[in-house]
Amino acid sequence: MWDYTDKVKELYTNPKNVGKIDDADVVAEVGSIVCGDALKLYLKIDDNDIITDAKFETFGCGSAIASSSALTEMIVGKNVKEVEKITNQDIVKYLGGLPEEKMHCSVMGHEALEKALKQLKGEKVEDHVDEEGEIICHCFGVTDDLIRRVIRENNLKTVEDITNYTKAGGACGSCIPKLEDILEEEAAKPASDKKKEETKKPLTNIRRMQLVEETITNVIRPILQEDRGDIELVDIDGKNVYVALRGSCSNCMVSNVTLKNLVEAKLREYVENDIVVHEIK
Ligand code: FES
Repeated sequence: MWDYTDKVKELYTNPKNVGKIDDADVVAEVGSIVCGDALKLYLKIDDNDIITDAKFETFGCGSAIASSSALTEMIVGKNVKEVEKITNQDIVKYLGGLPEEKMHCSVMGHEALEKALKQLKGEKVEDHVDEEGEIICHCFGVTDDLIRRVIRENNLKTVEDITNYTKAGGACGSCIPKLEDILEEEAAKPASDKKKEETKKPLTNIRRMQLVEETITNVIRPILQEDRGDIELVDIDGKNVYVALRGSCSNCMVSNVTLKNLVEAKLREYVENDIVVHEIK
C-alpha cells in the first residue's frame, strides 16, 4: 500500500477547481484514457496575463486528482510568466511528496500546463501529442523529449524511475532497451551540457539557488583554491549573487577581474546567462 501525505489525501477526497470553464481562453489536454490517465486543463487569463481561473477534468487515480488540484491552486492569481517556471517537482513539493510509483501524475500536471502555455503563445500543438520528439513507448505514447527532460529534472537513474515518472516501459516492455539507451546517453553527457540544457528553461528561485551553490562549490572554488584563494556565497536575490572573496583573493589588486571574468562568467555559463555578481567586502 502506498503511503500518501495528508495533503494528497485531502485533495483526493476534496479536490479544488474540478470542472470546466465554458469561456476558457485556453484548454489543454494530455494523456489518454486508453493509457489510464488523462487531464484536461482550462485556463482563464485577464488582460494583464494573470490567470484568474483554472479548472480541470481528469480521468485517473487519486494522485492524478490531487496533482491536478494542486496545480490549479498553484497557478490561480499568478502571472503567466511566473507559472512558466513551475516544474513537476514543484507540484510534488506542494503535495508534500508522492509515492515514486505515482510521480507520473505530477509530470502529467506539468505537461498540461506546458501545453496550455504553448497554445497561449500561439505555438501549434498537435492534439494528443504531449511533447515533441520521437515516440519511444508506444503503449503510453511517450516521446524521447519528455523522457530526457524528466530524467534531467528529476535526476533519474533507472528504467524503473522512468516508468514511475512517465509510465514508459510499464506495459509490454518492448521499449525498455530504448529507455536504457537514453539513460546511458544522458548519463554520458558532461555535467556542463546538462546545466546548459537546463538553462534553456526559466529557473525557479530554488533551482537557481541550488545551481549557484553547486557551481561555486564544484567549479569556481577549486579554481580559486589553486591560488590559495576562496569564495563565500553571501546572498542571492533573484539574479543578483552576492559573494565575498577570501584568502589570497580578498586583498588581490585584480579582484574585480576575478569577479567578472571567473565568478560571473562561470555562473552565466552554468546557471543563467544574465546573472550579475556583486562583491561584499
Ligand atoms: S512500448 Fe513501452 S511499455 Fe510497451
